[in-house]
Amino acid sequence: MIKVGIDTIAFYTAHYALDLADLAAARGIDPNKFSIGLGQQQMAVPPPGEDIVTMAANAALQALQFIDPNSIEMLLFATESGIDQSKAAGIYVHDLLGLPARCRVIELKQACYSGTVALQLALPFLRQFPDKKVLLVASDIARYGLNTPGEPSQGCGAVAMVLSANPRILAFDAEYGVVTENVMDFWRPNYSENAFVDGKYSSKLYMNMLEKAWQQYRDLSGRDFSDHAYYCYHAPVSRLVEKAHHYLGKVNREKLSDADVAQHVGHSLTYARIVGNSYTASLYIGLASLFDFAEDLTGKRLGLYSYGSGCVAEFFSGTVQPGYQTVLATAHHQDMLAKRKTLTYAEYEDFFSFKYPDDGSACDMPVHETGQFRLASIADHKRHYEKVT
Ligand code: HMG
Repeated sequence: MIKVGIDTIAFYTAHYALDLADLAAARGIDPNKFSIGLGQQQMAVPPPGEDIVTMAANAALQALQFIDPNSIEMLLFATESGIDQSKAAGIYVHDLLGLPARCRVIELKQACYSGTVALQLALPFLRQFPDKKVLLVASDIARYGLNTPGEPSQGCGAVAMVLSANPRILAFDAEYGVVTENVMDFWRPNYSENAFVDGKYSSKLYMNMLEKAWQQYRDLSGRDFSDHAYYCYHAPVSRLVEKAHHYLGKVNREKLSDADVAQHVGHSLTYARIVGNSYTASLYIGLASLFDFAEDLTGKRLGLYSYGSGCVAEFFSGTVQPGYQTVLATAHHQDMLAKRKTLTYAEYEDFFSFKYPDDGSACDMPVHETGQFRLASIADHKRHYEKVT
């Protein structure tokens, strides 16, 4: 069967971050609760004017750097931070990137899972049309509200992947385990800017669904725990991923030490610890992190776990391709993160509390540090994006 998978991958996050020690101080909480209890150090904070479109376009610009735009036959935009009930956010990205008119564009939603469904829908298409390419972008802003238990697990980011036949980075296996259950662990009604969440229940479901998705995958693929050199998980907070991996070991009668867990998932969490949750993008920023920090992964099989509240969970796998290092955006990622500005607590609260007009009144966005695209204004109920010169 023809190989299909990730040909290029790049991520983008806001140019501002809050140190969770400063959040802990503001909330009168022991900072170890966030650094040790959650395994998180910082969270990315989007300034006014940075939204899912600007983040996605910035990530995609990098992923498309050496790709002929005319080869992109489809743009799949995964998000749960939608800006419009009708128009797909991907159409703005399509325009900002100057993609060809002959291109399908659609937005997909199922909490943090929709990046994975986009991927799984693209793969059979690429097997059928191996000369075409698909641009998958996943972009989200995780918001729970000031002084809520979910607050330290906020963050934001976008990932862009060019998917193709004969991919240069990761070729996916055909087998997968997938489970859907109707549960209320996390949701966001149309009238709310912030998510509602039953945090402890959501963490329990994340684990239970991992076991179910894994067992299905293992039975279908015939692969064992030890057939995967590294694992990459959806990462709402890093500590949950470490716990989940210990649990997966137990399910497979493997007694993992903390060092084993760090070896299997540590590199995939490096960016997550300082970016925070990025919902649909999280698993794939984890993948970029693994590629950027692990030593030679050539020929290694990776196990991937995607979880989207509500819920759908999927376990799948892929093998890293020879020469993958030459296509990575490692230097770009590290330069972007090194240049981030650390916010004071008061600045974070100002950014968080910024109100976008919800009645059609005109609004010019204040200018902040961004990538190459920003939301310039909202007028006549329309969003206007611009290239930053
Ligand atoms: P919490 O209330 O902070 O939890 O919520 P906690 O009080 O149990 O504390 C967390 C850990 O910190 C505990 O460790 C404490 O002992 C420890 P554990 O018992 O779990 O091993 N701790 C300390 N450690 C060291 N020093 C201290 C200290 N104090 C306490 N001084 C929670 C945590 C993640 C639930 C919360 O942040 C939350 O609700 N987040 C949002 C929901 C979430 O992230 N859920 C995860 C699974 S659901 C999912 O992944 C889907 C999602 O991405 C959405 C989507 O699909 O779209 C969220």
